[in-house]
Amino acid sequence: MADYPKTLELTDGIMVTLELLTDNDLDMLIKFFQRLPEKDRLYLRSDITDPENVRRRFGNPDYDSMYPVIGRVNGEIMGIATIFRASFGWMRNLGEVRICIAPEYQKRGLSTLLVKELFFQALKMNIYKLQAELMDTQKAAITAFKHLGFREEAILPKHVTDIKGVRRDLVLMALDVEDLWATQEDYVLSPDFRMH
Ligand SMILES: CC(C)(COP(=O)(O)OP(=O)(O)OC[C@H]1O[C@@H](n2cnc3c(N)ncnc32)[C@H](O)[C@@H]1OP(=O)(O)O)[C@@H](O)C(=O)NCCC(=O)NCCS
Repeated sequence: MADYPKTLELTDGIMVTLELLTDNDLDMLIKFFQRLPEKDRLYLRSDITDPENVRRRFGNPDYDSMYPVIGRVNGEIMGIATIFRASFGWMRNLGEVRICIAPEYQKRGLSTLLVKELFFQALKMNIYKLQAELMDTQKAAITAFKHLGFREEAILPKHVTDIKGVRRDLVLMALDVEDLWATQEDYVLSPDFRMH
């Protein structure tokens, strides 16, 4: 908690504040989810338009199993990126990443900042691998995740069903935290790097 808030710049110069989500943010988070367009909600895995569901999922967070970072512009939530992980057992070194950015703040580098934040948090949580699960039809998101450093690791044929009842391939994308650290370490240890 001590590291937050962090104020950073989007690619167009707009300032964004990154913060760890707390219970005080839940009402604003519910509003953020409710105003997402249907096309961005189609692939989300729980009904985030239902306030009770959002409260159940994000309320009273145990940051060891769910690490949600929000991006605020002028005080309003414009994006959220979360690591979900099992805090016990054989999956505890794997973190699942889910990201959601307000349409008007997409393609401005907000996910890039949030994923960097999750990457450093993953190192602290002893997570070796960050994984994202996408449906094969999410072409833009798959491209964006590739740009964010994830690579396609597996395609599970006809593994999931879309809201129209059509069976779709599940694309598993992963980012190896240790491999990425190897490429970032020189930069992180250099005087140019600031944790803000
Ligand atoms: C996919 C999503 C998370 C990307 O977030 P974003 O903040 O727009 O991403 P960024 O601006 O940080 O861009 C990251 C990279 O992806 C690329 N990118 C972003 N959106 C893209 C798109 N629609 N098509 C192709 N490339 C895209 C950017 O060019 C950038 O690459 P670069 O750094 O090499 O220039 C966002 O569009 C979103 O929330 N979509 C709806 C919800 C969703 O699908 N979530 C994914 C499931 S967890």
